[in-house]
Amino acid sequence: MSNPASPPAVDVLDERPGLTFPPGFLWGAATAAYQIEGAAAVDGRTPSIWDTFSHTEGRVVAGHTGDVACDHYHRLGEDVALMAELGLKSYRFSVSWSRVQPGGTGAANPRGLDFYRRLVDELLANGIEPWLTLYHWDLPQPLEDAGGWPARDTAARFADYTTLVADALGDRVRYWTTLNEPWCSAFLGYGSGVHAPGRANGADAVRAGHHLMLGHGLSVQALRAARPTAEVGVTVNLYPVDPASDSPADSDAARRIDGLANRFFLDPLLRGSYPADLVADLRTVTDFDHVRDGDLATISTPLDLVGVNYYSRHVVAAPTDGDAAEPAPSCWPGSEDVRFVTRGVPVTDMGWEIDAPGLLETLRRVHGYTDLPLYVTENGSAFVDTVIDGEVDDVDRLAYFEAHLRAAHEAIDAGVPLRGYFAWSLMDNFEWAWGYTKRFGMIHIDYDSQVRTPKSSAKWYASVIRRNGLAAQ
Ligand code: FCB
Repeated sequence: MSNPASPPAVDVLDERPGLTFPPGFLWGAATAAYQIEGAAAVDGRTPSIWDTFSHTEGRVVAGHTGDVACDHYHRLGEDVALMAELGLKSYRFSVSWSRVQPGGTGAANPRGLDFYRRLVDELLANGIEPWLTLYHWDLPQPLEDAGGWPARDTAARFADYTTLVADALGDRVRYWTTLNEPWCSAFLGYGSGVHAPGRANGADAVRAGHHLMLGHGLSVQALRAARPTAEVGVTVNLYPVDPASDSPADSDAARRIDGLANRFFLDPLLRGSYPADLVADLRTVTDFDHVRDGDLATISTPLDLVGVNYYSRHVVAAPTDGDAAEPAPSCWPGSEDVRFVTRGVPVTDMGWEIDAPGLLETLRRVHGYTDLPLYVTENGSAFVDTVIDGEVDDVDRLAYFEAHLRAAHEAIDAGVPLRGYFAWSLMDNFEWAWGYTKRFGMIHIDYDSQVRTPKSSAKWYASVIRRNGLAAQ
């Protein structure tokens, strides 16, 4: 962590050799229910926190909602055909809790489950391995009204919901992810409030993070009970965190942010404990009285794999003198005043710095925690796309994927058991608080006509999958 300035993503003057990935490498693409399905009030689905949030004025750019999104609910046949054209080996999607168990408690909704049965059957018929995520941020609204993730009972509700989905789909789905990115659910949902449900309270965020992980552990146990042969994991979003300089103050800022962003989740999930320095940093926020005996053993219930979502790196510096005495709502409770520094390297349309070596660093770090197989369950970039004569030549996105796949291959060479890679995203979609203003897809969506247009990156990715690797450049 002593080198603040990482090298640029790729030296374009370099000659890049062809690279072959290990046999059976799982090439995939990912989406999430609320971001693509639409059909928000169809066949018995009831509101989730994202429906409520997006329908609340001022929460999402331009008042966009997921009511229609990519209308995937009504177009799954067409969408799976596009996946087959890409040659995807696997498709990572999430199940909408409110669709299959409206309200988040009680009986299953057979019409909701039927949608996922049809999707999974269609995938299998096309030779595409379904990869199911149980929770990608869309908590049923009544569970939020009852306290949401800061309330312990939500973890038990998540386990019940898991059993219901495992009973319905366990015979045909091998790969299961409990949570997607619990950091975002906890710290953006309850800390800064920029994500649903939009609460801004540091203690709630920390409690939410704990109960999400508790729910994960209970969900793993429920899955094992229902389907002993399932391959079960969790997806975390990780960032290398560098100090802006070698000063002790900046190093301490990096330690703090690394604690909240990465170790808050990695340590309990993979080691069964919270890091002592993180607990000390959070002393002004919470006394951790929500943690009960046995919780950490549940949270660290053994897994079969770990999913890593990687987008960028954080570079941070110590607060400057005179920073706000009264901290504003933040996704970094207890460390609100740490400054996030930009290095002037190329960024995506999200403003996220492009840092492919950070993927290698992140995968090696997780491998330092565990020998479990790892999967990159998301990696990708938003750029402004233009359709010209029915084509989208998204060279920047293609270059982003290429650079990160090279880093992934380097991780494999370094001994990391990386078994697959899922591009984010299969198609443009509802990018949370940014609505439809940010495009991450390999397939362009015209939201007026719902016409799908594979971009250059999609055609390129299809060739990567066909040759199981990258061509020389
Ligand atoms: C991740 C989310 C995913 C998408 C990408 C860009 O944090 O898991 O839904 O929004 O970022």
